[in-house]
Amino acid sequence: MNQVDYLRISLIDRCNFRCQYCMPEGAELDYILRQQLLTDNELLTLIQFVFIPVGFTRFRLTGGEPLLRPGVVELVKAIASFPQTQDLSMTTNGFLLAKKAHDLYNAGLRRINISLDSLDPETFDKIIGNRSRSQWQQVWEGIQIAHQVGFDPLKLNVVVIPGVNDHEVLDLAALTIDRQWHVRFIEFMPIGNAQLFGDQGWVVSADLRQSIRDRWGLTESQVRGNGPADVFQIPGAKGTLGFISQMSECFCDRCNRMRFSADGWLRPCLLNESNQIDLKTQLRAGVDPAQLREQVRSLLALKPEINFKQRESGATGAYSRTMSQIGG
Ligand code: GTP
Ligand code: 5AD
Ligand code: SF4
Repeated sequence: MNQVDYLRISLIDRCNFRCQYCMPEGAELDYILRQQLLTDNELLTLIQFVFIPVGFTRFRLTGGEPLLRPGVVELVKAIASFPQTQDLSMTTNGFLLAKKAHDLYNAGLRRINISLDSLDPETFDKIIGNRSRSQWQQVWEGIQIAHQVGFDPLKLNVVVIPGVNDHEVLDLAALTIDRQWHVRFIEFMPIGNAQLFGDQGWVVSADLRQSIRDRWGLTESQVRGNGPADVFQIPGAKGTLGFISQMSECFCDRCNRMRFSADGWLRPCLLNESNQIDLKTQLRAGVDPAQLREQVRSLLALKPEINFKQRESGATGAYSRTMSQIGG
């Protein structure tokens, strides 16, 4: 049985982008109200007295966009300073990174994953739902600065969308040849925006791998991480290529994580709501952390039975929440 010791903590459900595959424009989102968001103190209390004692030692901060959370640097500092924290990372869209990378690094964050779906500013804006001045340049600058500051490994996430950015796969893969960057190609998952690409809505990782292998060759490789990526490398390249293939090669069997939402719900899987635990309400009502730990332990015991395959919302697999609400 996999040890579940990786917690993905969503700091905020809001985002400054509207990625088509995540929270498309026009989608009616019920944002978490301010008073429903966990405060910094509540989050730190739960990490220290509930999550760490039951065995979580690796934490990833996600969103929405985690850098929109006020006080994010202080939170990073506090989580990094728990002696039990073995790994602390963040997944961001990179837009605010140029400004914040130094402070985040100094606060103790050492590795970061950044979404970069295209190298072409126009395509990028189309994917992130931007109609004003292009935001690609600012994200690109954020990536460069994160690299200079020393984040390592630095990973770039690409959700491959047929007809939109799939023609860029080789160019994106080529980024890893001269730079120590780790590019990961992600199969679109039908969550929130399930109908976006129709029934064959994802580009299959095995096909991408083949096109990269045809061009340069490809060997198996490794990079530090807790996630589901299968990692390869162009021979001689400085960085690696990861493939996150939930749809074609379900990786639930090696699942090692749970998710914690910005309003304090602990969820055992991306697609599971019926087993989730409302830790915030209980904490606010004064329930003893020992009781909360028991509840989390019970959920951990159930975890092997709860996975992506058992989609809860019927035959289509559609699911009402967007990735930004679940925490990516
Ligand atoms: P590393 O620790 O660097 O390996 O991180 P990671 O790959 O776990 O994190 P990241 O936030 O960059 O996630 C990359 C992609 O993997 C995103 O599309 C996530 O939604 C997806 N992903 C992460 N965890 C899960 C999971 O438990 N189930 C599924 N189906 N997808 C996941
Ligand atoms: N399918 C696959 N990946 C997604 N992400 C967001 N929505 C989806 C989806 N429907 C990815 C983003 C980001 C990470 C947090 O999740 O690209 O890199
Ligand atoms: Fe925002 Fe990330 Fe979702 Fe894009 S994928 S809308 S950047 S939360």
